Amino acid sequence: MLAALAASGAALGNVQKVDVASATPLRASMRATDRAGTATPASSARAPRAPGYAAMRDANVYHGAATMDRESRGLDGLLPSRAVNDEVELARARAALGQCESAFASYKQLVSLQTTDKRTFYQLLRADTADVLPYVYTPTVGEACLRFGTLVQRPHGLWVSLNDAGSVRRLVRNWPERDVKIAVITDGERILGLGDQGANGMGISAGKSMVYAACGVPPSALLPIQLDVGTNNETLLDDPLYIGLKQKRERSEAYDALLDELIVEIRDYFGPNTIIHFEDFAPRNAFRLLQKYYSAPDVVTYNDDIQGTAAVTVSGLLASVRALKGTNNDLTRQRVLFFGAGQANIGAAELFVKALVNRGVDEAEAKRRVWLFDSKGLVVRSRASELSDAKLPFAQDAPKETNLASAIERIKPTALVGASAVPGAFTQKVVRAMTRFNDQPIIFALSNPTSKAECSAEDAYRWSDGRAIFASGTRSAPVEYSPTKTFAPGFANNAFIFPPIAIATILTGAKQVTPDMFLTAAEALADSVDDDLFRVGAVYPPVERVASSAVAVAAAVASSVDDSSTDTDRWRELVRAYIVDNDLFDSASRL
Ligand code: NAI
Repeated sequence: MLAALAASGAALGNVQKVDVASATPLRASMRATDRAGTATPASSARAPRAPGYAAMRDANVYHGAATMDRESRGLDGLLPSRAVNDEVELARARAALGQCESAFASYKQLVSLQTTDKRTFYQLLRADTADVLPYVYTPTVGEACLRFGTLVQRPHGLWVSLNDAGSVRRLVRNWPERDVKIAVITDGERILGLGDQGANGMGISAGKSMVYAACGVPPSALLPIQLDVGTNNETLLDDPLYIGLKQKRERSEAYDALLDELIVEIRDYFGPNTIIHFEDFAPRNAFRLLQKYYSAPDVVTYNDDIQGTAAVTVSGLLASVRALKGTNNDLTRQRVLFFGAGQANIGAAELFVKALVNRGVDEAEAKRRVWLFDSKGLVVRSRASELSDAKLPFAQDAPKETNLASAIERIKPTALVGASAVPGAFTQKVVRAMTRFNDQPIIFALSNPTSKAECSAEDAYRWSDGRAIFASGTRSAPVEYSPTKTFAPGFANNAFIFPPIAIATILTGAKQVTPDMFLTAAEALADSVDDDLFRVGAVYPPVERVASSAVAVAAAVASSVDDSSTDTDRWRELVRAYIVDNDLFDSASRL
């Protein structure tokens, strides 16, 4: 190796000599020589004389061959001479993405673009949302979290660990942006359906932030945060490349104290209206923290896994009911079996009950229309001693049942909603049972990533003889069911909910994000599903419409919150104006 380096040094003549004698690595031995001939470290020699070097590494300035103000920034000669406009840079980014040979490679390519050239990255995200989101968000972001330790990158977010207790203020104030409006916080304990990923959860906070950006929230308003409180994932604890604290999860009051400190500092620095978005906490903390901070003064918060998923699920049920033929097309006639009784489905069960009550159904009766099924079977009263506070209100007066197909035979639900992360749980027998009692069984397999889905779209259609109204938690490819029938099922993802909820909260200055706001969002999203979508079996708008749908949903939510202006059309204009005014990365030509 040294000989090879020496040879290459010889070939370079006197330009770069390798310090073979002292066996110093090539890069460390490189010195810039100043005018007086004194050798100085390369970086300190570079800084005062070469501002262009710093500009090249500033993702807010560097914009490829479309970078502006080259002369004043000292960039002349550091970039190819042919200046181009934004469109060309965008085309270059698309071409680079097109060359990636795997979804994970695409993720890395996009994160690298975000690191080097934010303008092009966000333009691409906004212009090609449906193509880009599956890489930076679900499903690929799941793989990214699993492989986070192998990613050589500059992370885009704030890391707050147990070791920082008492000095979180300093960390928060190191964040380069001052106008943060949404902090997406995870502790990494339940990443998608992949379990405890510890500090690797940053991938999900960053991914959610990108969904906000795709819907028009300015990137500078977004702060992804990883709370590093250890992990119980032995694989990570044994992995030398793991980026987080090598200790078991903190379960004492030190955990709460760190989160409290973080929230206080966020509020102090960015203002009391900053939204705290809780993401992918395990149920043990998720419900508790939501309750704790919901009623805390000066904290605006929601839990996306509980409330966002609830709204998207209820929206799907509302839209499905509209698609039902015959007399059953009324929400109050539905009986829902929720498979998996965690954050997602309990939130959905609660919001479904609220929707029924709003339609005049007595609350006790509404709860009787909801059945939960967890890892130990149907949630029934005889299990009361082992049930969590969140499940208890839904415990039914019925015998125990641990078999899903048998439970369906007994309950005869009109809808089956899976959020269990149990792959393949909706077997042929289960789908057939649903089809026996319903002309159009509503079947949602919400778990993600794809490897965790309860069933595929293809299986749901095949086993129900093409009668299921189906939605999945990860986008499904169209299913050619017969020569005359192709289904393009909907993508039930809370990406349709949390961005508009946040935009409405920001614009109205709401001090709390209430269940009513989530129900309004659900209703507005369901209203945006038109007959063309129903015809192909979709009960959600396509991902291509995630941003335009956010405008309609945000306007509906804002008009329901603000007593002084309930005019939805006016709010729609205000939402559009907010998005455009804040669009730092508009695609107008810059030449
Ligand atoms: P969670 O961990 O809070 O709940 C999982 C539930 O599944 C628990 O109640 C558990 O008892 C139950 N379960 C586990 N094994 C079971 C079995 N063999 N039979 C029946 N139930 C079983 O997780 P959470 O947040 O509710 O998420 C569940 C899944 O839903 C995950 O894959 C998550 O990624 C997905 N999800 C999808 C969303 C979307 O927008 N499509 C949004 C939120 C979550």
